[in-house]
Amino acid sequence: MPPRIEELAEHINTNTQKVSQYLESHSLPQPSFDEDGPVDLQINSQEVDNARREAINNCYELLDLLQGPKALVRPVANATSAQAIHRYDIPAKVPLGREISFKDLAEKCGLHEPDLRRIIRFAITYHRLFQEKRDGFVSHSATSRWLAENPVAMDGVGLIHDTFYRSFAWTVDALQQFDDQEPNQTGFCLAHNTDEGLFSYLASRPEDAKRFGGAMKSFTADIPGNSPSFLINGYPWESLGPATVVDVGGSQAQIAIMLAEAFPKLNLIVMDLPDVLRHAQVPEHLSNRIQLHGHDFFEKQSTVADVYFFRWIFHDWPDKYMIKILRQLVPVLRPGARIIVNDSICPGPNTVPYDVERTIRGVDMVMLSLHNSREREKGEWEPLFKAADPRFGALKFYHPQGASLSIIESIWQA
Ligand SMILES: C[S@@+](CC[C@H](N)C(=O)[O-])C[C@H]1O[C@@H](n2cnc3c(N)ncnc32)[C@H](O)[C@@H]1O
Repeated sequence: MPPRIEELAEHINTNTQKVSQYLESHSLPQPSFDEDGPVDLQINSQEVDNARREAINNCYELLDLLQGPKALVRPVANATSAQAIHRYDIPAKVPLGREISFKDLAEKCGLHEPDLRRIIRFAITYHRLFQEKRDGFVSHSATSRWLAENPVAMDGVGLIHDTFYRSFAWTVDALQQFDDQEPNQTGFCLAHNTDEGLFSYLASRPEDAKRFGGAMKSFTADIPGNSPSFLINGYPWESLGPATVVDVGGSQAQIAIMLAEAFPKLNLIVMDLPDVLRHAQVPEHLSNRIQLHGHDFFEKQSTVADVYFFRWIFHDWPDKYMIKILRQLVPVLRPGARIIVNDSICPGPNTVPYDVERTIRGVDMVMLSLHNSREREKGEWEPLFKAADPRFGALKFYHPQGASLSIIESIWQA
């Protein structure tokens, strides 16, 4: 057997060639950081995408081995630069297809030039955001151009590098300070000097709530594993016939719109807090099949439906709150009513590819910092349904290949 680092390099070479040859044979552009570089590689082959992911996982391992153990505890987890880029809306201030001097850009942003310069140079080095092809002049990279043209992608950057990052910094203090692990005893609360949990904090801050909703759209559209196509193709929606589906905590109706487009027999009712729904825009041709209802899911549900759908809801809440949300449904559940959940299943250690485990452990830490909640392992789900009410039927799990989120179904048995 060759040494591990040589073996990894060999795999990387083989798999990278598969990707490159696929791009060439389909006349697709090769990856590049340049302003006109592709934002998405557009690989439409499971085999080639597997090769791409294997190469990425091998690269992670090779990089860590070549850097050595001491380097592994020293990556600079600093989001200050990306935070500033969001707050000062810098991508929109850099002209497309041209360069701008640090001096002029600093003036446009209202920042001191030396600070703007170090913020941008960090972003170039750590995020490949922007380029400095000529000393002292900034132009776009593929990433910064994508941000300049996509407001919801900027919402995602703001949520990650402002809200999350500030919350991370206070999370251990929250663990030390509070014992009860309530949603209003978090790193988020200490960082934002509030005793409200994230969602009630957002309820009285419409601009922040709008940004949160935009970020959810971006995390759905721009992270391949979160694509709604897994939800659409991974569950037998067609077999439900002309069913009424309540999308509980359905945000700005983005998933309801996709389900309604894909399944013309479904009727959807999107429920969320009124301030969130205010930003929902239902296309005219779907307005007779998608309704919006302001509803707090900690209050009794009053709408009788065939399906109550929860996407990215339960991972936001500690167990006793998940139980409470489920119990609010009980008075309206008819025999055969379905609860369908679309959430991550936290894997056991080393049971899934490294990139998958890395992502979910990252989100799990976000849940700790924001809500004192967590990504649950497979065996943790059913006991919580049964604790809410024993009439929730045994859970059925669907795991569409390549999806970050599983689909979990329980049928009401009364
Ligand atoms: C992580 S987001 C998921 C949104 C959406 N389901 C999706 O998949 O994009 C959680 C959602 O729960 C909503 N939410 C939080 N607390 C709520 C409550 N008490 N009642 C109703 N909705 C709530 C939030 O406004 C937000 O839209």
